[in-house]
Amino acid sequence: MADEPITFVDLRSDTVTQPTAPMREAVARAPLGDDVFGEDPSVNALESRAAEIMGKDAAIYTPSGTMANLLAVMTQCAPGETLLISEDAHLFTYESGSVARIANVLTKTVPGEFGIMAPDAVKARLVLARNVHLSRTTLVALENTTNRGGGAIYPFEWFSAVAQLARENGLRVHCDGARIFNAVVETGIAARDYAAHVDTISFCVSKGLGAPIGSLLVGDADTIRAARRYRKMLGGGMRQAGVAAAAGHYALDNHIDRLKEDHQRAKSFREAVEGTPGLAFPMPSPTNMVYVQVADVESFLTRLRERGVLALTPVAGMIRLVFHLHIDDAALERAIAAFRETAQSM
Ligand SMILES: Cc1ncc(COP(=O)(O)O)c(C=O)c1O
Repeated sequence: MADEPITFVDLRSDTVTQPTAPMREAVARAPLGDDVFGEDPSVNALESRAAEIMGKDAAIYTPSGTMANLLAVMTQCAPGETLLISEDAHLFTYESGSVARIANVLTKTVPGEFGIMAPDAVKARLVLARNVHLSRTTLVALENTTNRGGGAIYPFEWFSAVAQLARENGLRVHCDGARIFNAVVETGIAARDYAAHVDTISFCVSKGLGAPIGSLLVGDADTIRAARRYRKMLGGGMRQAGVAAAAGHYALDNHIDRLKEDHQRAKSFREAVEGTPGLAFPMPSPTNMVYVQVADVESFLTRLRERGVLALTPVAGMIRLVFHLHIDDAALERAIAAFRETAQSM
């Protein structure tokens, strides 16, 4: 008899989630139209809802967080101008150089712990001079929560101070809020209170919220109108996109509050493995991610996989585990046991 197939506990990312049965039912019922003509009722409703959640004029639905971020840059930075951003930001690190290749925008990076930019560090790097030799800074982007920073949450005072500093100097501010609702459920600060400090904010209904596809860019009416043209140019006009947007509605209705469970399981995992020899934890784990430093990442990941658990290594020397919709208490226990055994086997 063939071996039973291994069902993996997949902790590589919160992007691996599959639509649940009721989410699929919501998709099946979705009213549809041609969204490039502005006629898809499910997309239109999701965009209005996103604008309402964030307390802004308008929103645009995009196939990905990457496109939402790129639209924010293209609409708020002219070619040759500078985007100021954390050196660990997803937009800088993992978006295939889109800011340079497509938006023709320069990037100046800001060092800082856990992907968080201190107001002073931002201030020191602003280029405002009208001197013709210089590329002016025109956009500052913050990421909240931070992916490469272990799911860190911006201290609200820093978030607002960076934004205020930028705005006082006539700059625009974008928040890559791919996981903003993880910050919201953990801090109790409303999404619109974060959004009030920035000109544009993007968020993903994929990732922790569990929709299969989709992000939104939210901002003032003129910016979102301009973004619509760029989205078309980039090939992001999606016709009957309501099949996906309906999953986004379901995610917003049902999967925000439960993010707390992911945070709790991430904490429980960390507490359970923390004393094991050979493991170090250089980052806090305030939300749904745990980064673990080990001596030999590749063989650790291979041995972990042999025990039925999948993880990734986005930061050199570290393993990242992300807790999400499909990780229940039984999966958590399996992950803890496999992780301990793997550490002991090294
Ligand atoms: C912080 C952050 N921003 C943006 C993105 C890009 O999202 P997408 O994969 O939908 O392009 C990700 C993806 O993981 C992310 O973690």
